Amino acid sequence: KRGVHMRKLNVIILGSGLAALTAARELSVNCNVIIFTKTGRASSWKAQGGIAAAVNEDDVKHHAADTLYAGAGHGNERAVKTLVQDGVRAVHEWIKEGMSFDKELNGDFARCLEGAHSVRRILHAGGDQTGKRMMEHILSTCLTIDLFTDKKVVDLIINEGSCRGVTVKGRNGGIEHVFADAVVIATGGYGGLFDSSSADKSLAGEGSALAYRGGAELEDMEFTQFHPTLLWSENKSHGLISEAVRGEGAVLVNGKNERLMAWHPLKDLAPRDVVARTLYENVKKGIPVFLDIQCVTDMEKRFPTVSAICKRAGVDLYKGKIPVRPGAHFSIGGVRTDINGCTSVEGLYAAGEAACTGVHGANRLASNSLLETIVFGKRTASHIAATVRPRNINTSATRRADIKPLKFPEKEAVIKAVSHGAGIEKNPDDLKELIGFCETFQVKQHVHSLRENWKLKEVEVSNMLITAWLIATSSLIRTESRGSHYRSDCPVQNPEQWEGKKVIRHISEKLIRPCFTEGST
Ligand code: SIN
Repeated sequence: KRGVHMRKLNVIILGSGLAALTAARELSVNCNVIIFTKTGRASSWKAQGGIAAAVNEDDVKHHAADTLYAGAGHGNERAVKTLVQDGVRAVHEWIKEGMSFDKELNGDFARCLEGAHSVRRILHAGGDQTGKRMMEHILSTCLTIDLFTDKKVVDLIINEGSCRGVTVKGRNGGIEHVFADAVVIATGGYGGLFDSSSADKSLAGEGSALAYRGGAELEDMEFTQFHPTLLWSENKSHGLISEAVRGEGAVLVNGKNERLMAWHPLKDLAPRDVVARTLYENVKKGIPVFLDIQCVTDMEKRFPTVSAICKRAGVDLYKGKIPVRPGAHFSIGGVRTDINGCTSVEGLYAAGEAACTGVHGANRLASNSLLETIVFGKRTASHIAATVRPRNINTSATRRADIKPLKFPEKEAVIKAVSHGAGIEKNPDDLKELIGFCETFQVKQHVHSLRENWKLKEVEVSNMLITAWLIATSSLIRTESRGSHYRSDCPVQNPEQWEGKKVIRHISEKLIRPCFTEGST
């Protein structure tokens, strides 16, 4: 029992998206919460389609089944059950607090369809501004939280195998050790490592890299989800065209108006990885791909964000076709956690896209990501509040070698190498080339060295390099294709070699086991 004289818990949260703010809101009632965020931007703001939540009690099991089906046999059933059950409760709580999801004229909640969902169960807000509206809601209901964007996290403080806080560096280069009873990584994914991505460019895998340097286990780093429809014009992507547009009847066609997904039983609403690969096959052959929106009614009202993206890119909606291509969208792998956000390092927690509970398997079901943030963000916070006790903060960090790597790549070079080597279709030669690239820049030294004297931009690119290396090495080890991980040299699932998730996880763990040992130099 927490005694009356005990001081409040000090909790540090890294990140400022929905998972971070959900945890912060929950914890700020009884704890001192500090947020360190790199830019204050987060993918949550950009989430369009909506939030998936079971329609009724009976649908809970269907939502779980859809999640596992989309996850291509790799999902963690316990995590999935937790997501869908807690998800219904969480969404109802948000509605009770005043979060306003869109309604039909008859007053019922409007629910839309996206890939691999068996029923219409996706709630949305402001048409396709669901993430933005949810962020606004949570910011308006948070208690006071100290949020810093001017102090950048350069490392976790690890002492005797336990996370004790973070080392931050201010604009003036001053180093500060900020101690805490618990640290939560909620930094989002690593979509910024790809040249064509729906994610904010700043999202470059800080969470994975910091956790890995701190000795935490990572998992499923080979699974990067590619979204089928990023607006593509003038040789670059311009933003996400929500899958919900297909849920309202839009279809994927080539330049001759032939439907591209007619072959699949779920047609244009097949699982995201399947649609993305089909489009990629066409793109590879030089065939342009379009989203035909002619049968979507009220396009601008229902999809204001998509419409604005089209307008900015000079695409005339009245022509009825949006040029699209697949691009990186969601990081399925990350810091391995249980369903309470606990990582393999005591005192260190993770939630949201930065974490890997196994809930998404090998391919995330559409609109499960916002749900993941509010479910696991809250569970992590509740677990910390219930189990963590204030501790002595007079501690020191485990020593690291003060040897700076001789070389730092340019950010653009890392992005180019990752986009080429670990894209939608991978092969061993390209993966080895990517690993070679990382090794040229002494990636292992990046993992082990003391960073306090590095420039902030060196820390950033170092995190990118470490994450790139983890993606490449994990992708090379998985010699099969499953969900979002596609290897052209072994294009099918290989149940013989990979039978049972345990084996997969064991092998993944062997590869990305904690590499940081106490006193390592
Ligand atoms: C979308 O709106 O297509 C993206 C939703 C998601 O990533 O789940």
